[in-house]
Amino acid sequence: MKKTNLLGEITPKQFLQTYWQKKPLLVRQAIPGMSALLSRETLFDLAIRDDVESRLITNFRQQWKMQHGPLSQLPKPNQKNWTMLLQGVNLHDDEADKLLNQFRFIPDSRLDDLMISYATDGGGVGPHFDSYDVFLLQVHGKRRWRISAQKDLTLEEGLPLKILRNFIPEAEFILEPGDMLYLPPHYAHEGVAIGECMTYSVGFRAPAWQELGERFLEFMADSIDLPGRYTDAGHLSQQTPAKISDHLLETVTTELSKLASTPEDIAIFLGQHLSEPKSSVFFEPPERALSPAKFIAAIAKQGLKLHRKTRMLYRSRYIFINGESFQPGATDRKLLMSLADEKMLSATDLKSASHDLLESLHAWYCEGWIVVNQRENLSSETKQ
Ligand code: SIN
Ligand code: CO
Repeated sequence: MKKTNLLGEITPKQFLQTYWQKKPLLVRQAIPGMSALLSRETLFDLAIRDDVESRLITNFRQQWKMQHGPLSQLPKPNQKNWTMLLQGVNLHDDEADKLLNQFRFIPDSRLDDLMISYATDGGGVGPHFDSYDVFLLQVHGKRRWRISAQKDLTLEEGLPLKILRNFIPEAEFILEPGDMLYLPPHYAHEGVAIGECMTYSVGFRAPAWQELGERFLEFMADSIDLPGRYTDAGHLSQQTPAKISDHLLETVTTELSKLASTPEDIAIFLGQHLSEPKSSVFFEPPERALSPAKFIAAIAKQGLKLHRKTRMLYRSRYIFINGESFQPGATDRKLLMSLADEKMLSATDLKSASHDLLESLHAWYCEGWIVVNQRENLSSETKQ
């Protein structure tokens, strides 16, 4: 993994021990010379698209309003007090994806996305808290952050967005381009733009137990196999017609207890669930897909890489890609683990790929999950 100065003097290990999920960290000049990766016009163009999650938040005449995208009409940049949020920009832009990759000292299984906010003077989303860990990187203009460890997280009622009722700031910082503020979940904060401002939020999700439980039951429902049916020959002797008999209850209990999950079920579920792209994500197959033979010849020369939308994880014998699980042989598994970690395989790596794996890679390529490295990129595609 490439060395990062993102955390200033602090090593990723120290950060994870001392700050991660515990307390805020302000890093001045985490990325010196940082400027916006996407222009204001590019952001506005993204906001119009229906495959990009966007929101417009205005606070005109001291009234909070929120509108979900696509946003074909935005207030003028010289109008104060509005902000536009674009979720998942890393899915649509290579530079944004590369920036996100600098945060891989935190496992991919925790990564959510890169959100970009554009705000005019005075713009912001009000005092609030998030359920996510977030790195707030200032990339254009200035933003004043006020933060608080307060325990009172009561929200105002009747507003279109989550605004804290009693925000009592304990610290204040003005961030300039390149500065970054890390906040753990449930840490109260408010960011207000000073002039035109762009902030990138790198968010890390923590699964909520309820949601995980519901998804797990859906996963189990897809794979249950309980043959047979209840029989009660010789067991119907009750005088009370409405009562559920002991025999019925006991038999059902025995059958349903066969549904208990194994640790392997849970591992497969987790890998599939965490590698599942969000429902708004669509992959684009190549316009003119290469035949299997041409594809294999191309990657044998140029290597391949994951498409930036692809999520790939692994655990013991299993490889997970975009919500699917595979159990390849040992040599292929090593290659795929390397693909998941490095997000690429070189031509040399691919020499040991089995025929089955090459077939799967072709199928993934046809789905738009992986791409053949471009010749001109080869020199810069060295492994980190
Ligand atoms: C923003 O960048 O405007 C909002 C980010 C946040 O407070 O989480
Ligand atoms: Co926030």
